[in-house]
Amino acid sequence: MGFSKSRPLFSSAARRLSASPASYLLCRSWQHQPKFCPASTLAASEPVGASLSAANISIERTAAPKEKLPPTKLVFGHTFTDHMVQIPWNDTDGWLTPKILPYQNLSLDPATCVFHYAFECFEGMKAYKDSNGSIRLFRPDKNMDRMSKTAARICLPTFDHDALIKIIAELVKLDGDWIPSERGYSLYLRPTLIGTQASLGVAPPKSALLYVIMSPVGPYYPTGFKAVKLEATDYAIRAWPKGVGDRKLGANYAPGILPQRMAASRGFQQNLWLFGDEGYITEVGTMNAFFVFQLPDGKLELATAPLDGTILEGVTRDSILALARERFDKDKWVISERKFTIQEVADHAKAGTLVEAFGSGTAAVVSPIKEISWRGQPIAVPLQAGKETGMVAEQMAQWIAEIQYGEVEHPWSVLLN
Ligand code: COI
Repeated sequence: MGFSKSRPLFSSAARRLSASPASYLLCRSWQHQPKFCPASTLAASEPVGASLSAANISIERTAAPKEKLPPTKLVFGHTFTDHMVQIPWNDTDGWLTPKILPYQNLSLDPATCVFHYAFECFEGMKAYKDSNGSIRLFRPDKNMDRMSKTAARICLPTFDHDALIKIIAELVKLDGDWIPSERGYSLYLRPTLIGTQASLGVAPPKSALLYVIMSPVGPYYPTGFKAVKLEATDYAIRAWPKGVGDRKLGANYAPGILPQRMAASRGFQQNLWLFGDEGYITEVGTMNAFFVFQLPDGKLELATAPLDGTILEGVTRDSILALARERFDKDKWVISERKFTIQEVADHAKAGTLVEAFGSGTAAVVSPIKEISWRGQPIAVPLQAGKETGMVAEQMAQWIAEIQYGEVEHPWSVLLN
C-alpha cells in the first residue's frame, strides 16, 4: 500500500509557476451577491485622499541598537529587531508618509476602537537570507492580497500592494543583519493594521495605523519534525459559512485558545477543527489541513478543504497545491480541494488507506500529524518508518525551503538586494 520505491510519485518536470493574479477586494460570496455587500465595505475599498506610496519614506535610525540573541536561543515571536514601519491613515488625507522608526511602544487613547471592537488584522510572512547573503521574501503579493481583503472586510483602508511591499523591503534591508543566515532560520514579518479612532461609537474607523514589526525566528522543530497529536473538535467551531474564518483577523485567534488548552489538558497539541453535523474537517490549530488517501483505483489523493469562506487562504496551502499539481505524477495522484469528514478519515484509517496527514502554515511550513482523537477513540495516522513525518510533508518542506532560500530560482522568491 502507499508508496513504492520503484514507481516515482513525483514527476521530474519542474516548470516555473507564475505569480498570483492581481488581488480583488471583496470576498467571493459577496462578489456574486452584491446586494448584500454593506456600503461601509464598499467605502473602505474606495480611494480616499492619498494612496499609499513608497516614494518619500522617512527613516529615523535607532541610536541604541539592541543585542542580538544567538540563533539557538530564539523563541518564536519573542525578540524584535531595531526598527519598525508606521504608516498613519485618515479618511480625509488617505495614507500619510510611511515612517521607519526605532522599534517602540504605541501610545493610544484607551477609547481607541481597536481595543473595543477588534478593528485589527495582520499578516505573517518571512524574509530569508540566501547563501550569497541576499535577502528574499516568499510570495509577498499573496500576503498583500489577503491583507487587503481582510482590511476591507472590517472597514479598514486598503492599500497599494506594491507600495507596501517596497516599504517592507526597506525595513527588511535596514534590519537585514537580524536575519540569521543558517538554513531553517528567517525573519518573521508581522504587518498589522489597526483602527485608531478614539471613540466608542460602533462605526468604520476614521483613522488607522499600519505598522510592521519583525522577529528573527528559528526552525519550528529545532530537532527535526515532531509529529503532533490532535483532538478532533466539535464542541467549539472555528469558522462558519458567511463568517470571517477566511480573513486574517486577530479576532479569529483568541477564541481558539481555550479549546486548545482543553485539548492540551488531555494530551493533544492542537485542535482538528470540525464543522457541522457531518464533521467536515476544516483546519488544524492555526494551520490549513492536508490528508493523503489511497483511492480504490490505486491512485493517491492529496486532499484539503476548499476555500468556501471558512478556510484561511494560506500561502503555504496554495504553494503546496501548486507544487503538487506541478510536480506530482499525474497518473498516480489526484489533487483535491473538497469537503471531507472525520468519518471519512476514520474509514480510511480502518481500511488501511489513510496514508498521511499534515498541517501547513507560514510559521512551521508543514506540521506532520501522527494521531487524531475523535470521540475518545484514537485514529492512527501513518508516518514513514523511523521518521516523524509522512512522505508528502517531507517533500513539500524540502521543495518550499529550496525556493525560500533561493537554492532553486523561482518566481515566488523575491530578491530584495
Ligand atoms: C501560521 O501557521 O503561520 C500561523 O498563522 C500562526 C501565526 C498566527 C503565529
